Amino acid sequence: MSSSTGSPADSDTRGLTAPAALVDNYLAEFLDGRALPENLREAIRYAVLAPGKRMRPLLVMYACEAVGGVREQALAPAAAIEMIHAFSLVHDDLPAMDNDELRRGRPTLHVKTSEGLAILAGDALMGLAFELLATRIEDAELSRSVIAELASGTNDMVAGQVYDTFPAFDRDITPLERLAAIHLHKTGALMKASVRMGAMVGEASDEQLAAMTSYGEAIGLMFQVVDDVLDVTQTTEHLGKTAGKDAEQDKLTYPAVIGLDASRREIERLQDAAHAALRPMGASARPLHELCDFLAVRTK
Ligand code: IPE
Ligand code: IPE
Ligand code: MG
Ligand code: MG
Ligand code: MG
Repeated sequence: MSSSTGSPADSDTRGLTAPAALVDNYLAEFLDGRALPENLREAIRYAVLAPGKRMRPLLVMYACEAVGGVREQALAPAAAIEMIHAFSLVHDDLPAMDNDELRRGRPTLHVKTSEGLAILAGDALMGLAFELLATRIEDAELSRSVIAELASGTNDMVAGQVYDTFPAFDRDITPLERLAAIHLHKTGALMKASVRMGAMVGEASDEQLAAMTSYGEAIGLMFQVVDDVLDVTQTTEHLGKTAGKDAEQDKLTYPAVIGLDASRREIERLQDAAHAALRPMGASARPLHELCDFLAVRTK
């Protein structure tokens, strides 16, 4: 059985998401201090500081603390991963991709500005993420490892977007195998990179890093199965992004391939796998356990 904290799906009674404000402040300070064309800065701020869940930054911070590090060490990678995530959302919403007009309860960036500026804001968010890591992590070897981790996660995310949008799979693989490949790449890769970067800046042992990797893989896949389920079970108003998009665009999703009930069982299986991966970590991983439960039952 899945363990559960019994928390309501969307109200954060334990203050689990409170540290997200630290990351928003850090991001705002970084973006305001960087020389940029003003219209580009505004576009970037619109995308990255919009009201999102900030789950990837929280994963970075809680993974860092779980291995014995302090939260402040995690701010640079936490901000960097949110910039990569925001870039992925801006480009995911473009007419050439999912063609969405609503994101985080607001008009998508290309609707608010123009397609050209949205493309360029996405490009800039990617460059800025790596610049942040290169300039704000003092230890050169650590900086190199964290940059390599984020680069690999970003490249896997892009590969996943290609599998999702321009599929070219081997004929032999089953729809379920395709689906796992799409989801582990397009969404899982950045979640895995989040916990691994957090572990790295917290100076994790090899065992701790391995535990974080397994946890990140499980919650990364789980997160996208939940996203697929919410697309069919929630309203546009509640989600702050267009519901029912996946069926409309014939996307390969868990509910489409195995149905809603089996998708929910898959979420529970992955939730259990994530908890099991944390077992060697002990009490310091409590926020990661709680985040996992929160992500399994979220409704937006
Ligand atoms: C949406 O991610 C895109 C997916 C990878 C499913 P989130 O659900 O984390 O979006 P925000 O950041 O809260 O807006
Ligand atoms: C998004 O998957 C994955 C990335 C943005 C990398 P979706 O296309 O399902 O995300 P939403 O539903 O638009 O947020
Ligand atoms: Mg998409
Ligand atoms: Mg989309
Ligand atoms: Mg979706």
